[in-house]
Amino acid sequence: MKNLIILLLIFSLACSEPYQTKYFDQLIDHIGFETGNKTFKQKYLIKDDYYRYDKGPILFYSGNEAPVEFGFNGAGFMHTTLAQELNALVVFMEHRYFGESQPFGTEKESFKKGNNKYLTSFQALNDYVKFLAWFKQSLGCGDKECPIVAVGASYGGMLSAWIRMKFPEIIDVSLASSAPIFLYENREGIDETLFYKIVTDTYDQNGCSKQIHSAMKILTDLIDSPLPSFLFKKQYKKILDEINQGIKTCKPINDQDNLNNLRSYIDQAYGYMSMFNYPQEGHFVSKMPPWPANYSCTPFEAINDKSSISQLFQAVKKSVDVYYDFEEQKECTNFNTGSTGDINTSGYVILSCADIIQPIHPNGITDMFYNSPWDKDSYQQYCQETFGLTPNYDYALNFYGGKNDEEMKQFSRIIFSNGMLDPWNSGSPTNFISDDLPILNMYAAAHCSDLRLPQNGDIESVTQARIQEAKYIKQWIQEKLPADYFTKKSQF
Ligand SMILES: *[C@@H]1O[C@H](CO)[C@@H](O)[C@H](O)[C@H]1NC(C)=O
Ligand SMILES: *[C@@H]1O[C@H](CO)[C@@H](O)[C@H](O)[C@H]1NC(C)=O
Ligand SMILES: *[C@@H]1O[C@H](CO)[C@@H](O)[C@H](O)[C@H]1NC(C)=O
Repeated sequence: MKNLIILLLIFSLACSEPYQTKYFDQLIDHIGFETGNKTFKQKYLIKDDYYRYDKGPILFYSGNEAPVEFGFNGAGFMHTTLAQELNALVVFMEHRYFGESQPFGTEKESFKKGNNKYLTSFQALNDYVKFLAWFKQSLGCGDKECPIVAVGASYGGMLSAWIRMKFPEIIDVSLASSAPIFLYENREGIDETLFYKIVTDTYDQNGCSKQIHSAMKILTDLIDSPLPSFLFKKQYKKILDEINQGIKTCKPINDQDNLNNLRSYIDQAYGYMSMFNYPQEGHFVSKMPPWPANYSCTPFEAINDKSSISQLFQAVKKSVDVYYDFEEQKECTNFNTGSTGDINTSGYVILSCADIIQPIHPNGITDMFYNSPWDKDSYQQYCQETFGLTPNYDYALNFYGGKNDEEMKQFSRIIFSNGMLDPWNSGSPTNFISDDLPILNMYAAAHCSDLRLPQNGDIESVTQARIQEAKYIKQWIQEKLPADYFTKKSQF
């Protein structure tokens, strides 16, 4: 697919701020020798309302690809229920190159070719390790005190798993929520098309995958047409007119690029709605109803074999507007805009041209989309021209480990949680590996459901996963706490 689906957590808007905002002088480069000891200000949030005991546990959020407040708002379970359960000190750290944590001052300067090369997962892990070493010291904690639990969501979940895999002496336990650490080309047996099959399953179960597939096929046939562009409009005038009418495009489609953009606009909506198919109302690009993916099938109820192309695309428009414009604020459809609202995905695209390359793609057979094999040559060319970077497909698994389950067995005390409706479970550990790597598969749950603020309407599997998570964490941090910590914790 042309546009990458990013791995964000859904967020809701917070009213007041229950945390303090701080900045840490962080090294720009932990690995090379070009920038010397030059530093930048890395943002972090501290929340201590449940912290009682000086040398108690630290819950550390390994920030992902967004301003840190988004992570905070998306991970309510961690800084309320779980923090209370452990009487932990909560720290949320912003990922370098996102939000205010710009290594070269501004986003514009930091994202420039040359300056962008310090945006890698390993630099990010080193940020967290360097910070935590200092932070523990500043609290007066010794090595055998103040256990640290790394928590992460999605890409941040991969970081929370990897930080424990690479730095077990600093991180005691990790909770990796919806973390597709196996979704790399060099993982044994990886299925790069499973992601879009899982997306499709949801729409299939809700009765509209066939209709969506019909619309995708019409667009794809036009896109794949070998006609020269001057003939393009003429030959397909009637079909294009019907599509324009159905979609209510702001500007009529008039070339292949437009068609490609429209197709991405549609498939991204279906991808995100399936990731964010929560039982409660949510906000991402804009407001969405409970169970947005299910809801988005309703416009297709009136569609059958006799429906016109225009009627089919009218249903597609209503359906994807559950994601883009649920409150019906827009006069017409502008499919050339990004699909993630206020969240700027440029940083994640850079990571995807460095060491986080997850080659997921649809095939149009096991999914309702279209055949779109991963084209490594053109992808490499794109990364080199745009960012001056060459993607390293094998880096993550070669460096962190996890090419197969045997390799995973050397690691311990990482909890992997998965939503079984979430397409990212296609690349997360979902099958038993070892007792030291518990896997919590939550049926009927979406992306990072467990980390969200516990609330009415939560699915039982999610509630159960949270209970298990707290249990494992307590068991594994106990050795760095007083023997009676959990029985008498309110007295500390
Ligand atoms: C950073 O490097 C400069 C030049 O080598 C040196 O004078 C300075 O002491 C260093 N600062 C720190 C904090 O290490
Ligand atoms: C996202 O950030 C990049 C880098 O600063 C910038 O070039 C781009 O215009 C931004 N995109 C949007 C949609 O704001
Ligand atoms: C929505 O669809 C999912 C996936 O098919 C299903 O598990 C869930 O129960 C549905 N929700 C409702 C309220 O029907």
